[in-house]
Amino acid sequence: MDQRRTFTAFAVALISVLTVGIAAAASQLSPPLREMRWIDPGLPPAEVVRALTTEPAECLLVPGDATEQAKIAIGRAVFRSPLLLGGQAARAGVSCASCHRAGRGNPHFTFPGVSGAPGTADVTSSLFSSKRGDGVFNPKPIPDLVTDLAKVDHNPAKPDLRRFIHGQIVEEFDGLEPPAAVLDGLAAYVGALGGPCGSDMARTAAGEAATARAAIAAARALLQVPDQQAAHLLLAAARSALGRLDERYAGVPGIDRRLAARDGELRQVQVLEITDPVAAIGALDRWTRRFNKDTGELRIAQDRSLYSATIVETTLSKTQSR
Ligand code: HEC
Repeated sequence: MDQRRTFTAFAVALISVLTVGIAAAASQLSPPLREMRWIDPGLPPAEVVRALTTEPAECLLVPGDATEQAKIAIGRAVFRSPLLLGGQAARAGVSCASCHRAGRGNPHFTFPGVSGAPGTADVTSSLFSSKRGDGVFNPKPIPDLVTDLAKVDHNPAKPDLRRFIHGQIVEEFDGLEPPAAVLDGLAAYVGALGGPCGSDMARTAAGEAATARAAIAAARALLQVPDQQAAHLLLAAARSALGRLDERYAGVPGIDRRLAARDGELRQVQVLEITDPVAAIGALDRWTRRFNKDTGELRIAQDRSLYSATIVETTLSKTQSR
């Protein structure tokens, strides 16, 4: 009897030691922000903090035409969504915007097996592509889509850009065939990148919330067409934006619950849009009203989140001293 009790106590102790060990290992494996996985590990901590809390100004020349504006909105949203891509990229959380931050370049991008020097990527790597992988390690500098001399004609009226982006999604990053509206949107967005550029800006919850809201507005417009396939990708883009907000607010009481609720609602809409697009549109309107309230709360709590450089700095120093 006693022996059995001793054994039980031993087993419980062993299990808790293992659990703590596994939790510690897991937290070491997964950094607090996903994008830290592709930041140059040799970058000084102050620069890492800067990279995580600022981003280049987005330089967009938005035309007055409403149809063009709608296309650009679709492109802008999916450009930031890993689920546009497939395979390893989607699993790792890499999107067009991971390499081309705000449509620009990314001098710190370092992805094991894909990058050589920081800021380069081998876009014919077999890690990202089962189709274009050429077995040769030949990383190229990631171009700034605004200021670098373009190799591909960026005029969306010509077929070149559309064809190039299609190849990137389907062949380079193993994504599924994108719906026409999504491809047109990407070409319109990349084509509209340009004009005078300001300096780097602080990243904010309001900025990410606006990305989520714009993706929902685009999804709503696509449901009215109805183009369910494209709408589905836009809903996924909104969910990715919510995921990025969620990472930044991990451990801020109340906010995580709100974001989880909004994400759950979008998951339901992704099911509903197939059977009842009209009801899905109504659900998105209610969602937007709730999310507008959430955005106020996000703003209030921003100083306690990983949008604050001070909080990022302390979090990083804790991770590194372990
Ligand atoms: C892993 C990093 C990475 C990702 C992700 C990525 N790109 Fe690129 N992109 C590059 C690199 C590197 C080049 C330069 C390739 C070369 O020079 O052959 C490039 C080139 C381009 C160009 C041509 C530049 C020019 O003007 O000639 C465009 C346009 C472009 N990317 C858009 C996109 C879009 C849209 C996506 C998402 C579907 C995307 N990229 C995803 C790294 C990336």
